[in-house]
Amino acid sequence: MENHLSTHTTPTPFVAAGSRTSHGFTAPARVNLIGEHTDYTGGLVLPMAIPFYTVASIEPTSELRYTFHSDLFKQVRELSLEDRSEGVGNWSDYPVGVLRELQVLGIEPPPFDLRLTGNVPFGAGLSSSASVEVATAMALLSHAGVALTIEEIAPLCQRAENAYVHSPCGIMDQFVITAAKAGHALLLDTRSLSYEHIPINQGALSETCIVVCNSMVKHSIASGDYGQRRRELEAGQTILREAFPQLRDLGDAAVDQLERCEGAMSAESYKRCRHVITENTRVREAKQAMLAGDATLLGKLMLKAHASERDDFECSCEEVDFLVDTASKLEGCFGARLTGGGFGGCTVNLVARFNADAFVSALKSAYLQRYSINPDTYICEAVDGAVERAKTAQNNEIAL
Ligand code: GLA
Repeated sequence: MENHLSTHTTPTPFVAAGSRTSHGFTAPARVNLIGEHTDYTGGLVLPMAIPFYTVASIEPTSELRYTFHSDLFKQVRELSLEDRSEGVGNWSDYPVGVLRELQVLGIEPPPFDLRLTGNVPFGAGLSSSASVEVATAMALLSHAGVALTIEEIAPLCQRAENAYVHSPCGIMDQFVITAAKAGHALLLDTRSLSYEHIPINQGALSETCIVVCNSMVKHSIASGDYGQRRRELEAGQTILREAFPQLRDLGDAAVDQLERCEGAMSAESYKRCRHVITENTRVREAKQAMLAGDATLLGKLMLKAHASERDDFECSCEEVDFLVDTASKLEGCFGARLTGGGFGGCTVNLVARFNADAFVSALKSAYLQRYSINPDTYICEAVDGAVERAKTAQNNEIAL
């Protein structure tokens, strides 16, 4: 039988050789349920952590240098303790960026050997980069004997990516990977960084599962499209603030205010802002749907969110639209949407548990037939973030 008809892959707990020690720090990946491109204009996001992991193992060394190893890339980068050079354009920029941001705070860890490994898919929109950053931050902080809060660690990792990798991401990924709680999604207000853990298994939702489907279309947010959308959005936000000085950011804005500014901004800015303003409302409604255990409503909100990403934010692509459209017509599917930065990457699907295997087989088969691409699929549970995992392991080993 052809591979595409085989059942889904469920991520299995990742066990890295040598990481079951008190020096091993793990950080998960994430999938965003709803609230896309809202995290750099003060909006709301509702992601959860999923069981793919980066493991950062750290050891002291008598050499006067910092060494970064990647098991996956089979590469090593060495830096002198005084080194403050720019990034080199490969995997090592993510952990070195974290070191740089610690140094900016005056934290100079003693010399170390840091080894990174893991199983987070690259370029799939599941936040492999933020997972590396957070695992690295946990390891370096422990090694330096410094404790920072979640509200300090996540922005530090975001700054590492913004400043050192030159990737203009928001705060969502680093925050959920740090602060998530098993069995819950994380509702984050990206302006105040206040957050709530929302259970994902109330009422009818206890009979559903989250299926992630990778379109296998790769897109990096360091390439131009994400930054361009962000600039268009921020240009619209500036015009709204001029018209309504009490607005702090788009997180406060309403559609009727946007409509009154339509003539003052470009058609692109108008559409990008409309996506974000309506998306913030959908996140609030999604929280209520989750608390009420209303799978039907949550699914509808996901489909509406996808339409808004496709038509207003224009960050989808043909392959992802096909996956969402196909999924939404399959039995047991409540809703589906593009997740993450977009322009490829993954869809997130809310599916009746009894039908999950049949759903996955049908979706894979349709995609293979249409694009000759066999998509990876994962049935995901919500797991703890890096800090929760560290807490549960504090008296013992890191539990992978
Ligand atoms: C990427 C970024 C996030 C967020 C999403 C879109 O994942 O890293 O900060 O902006 O895109 O919601």
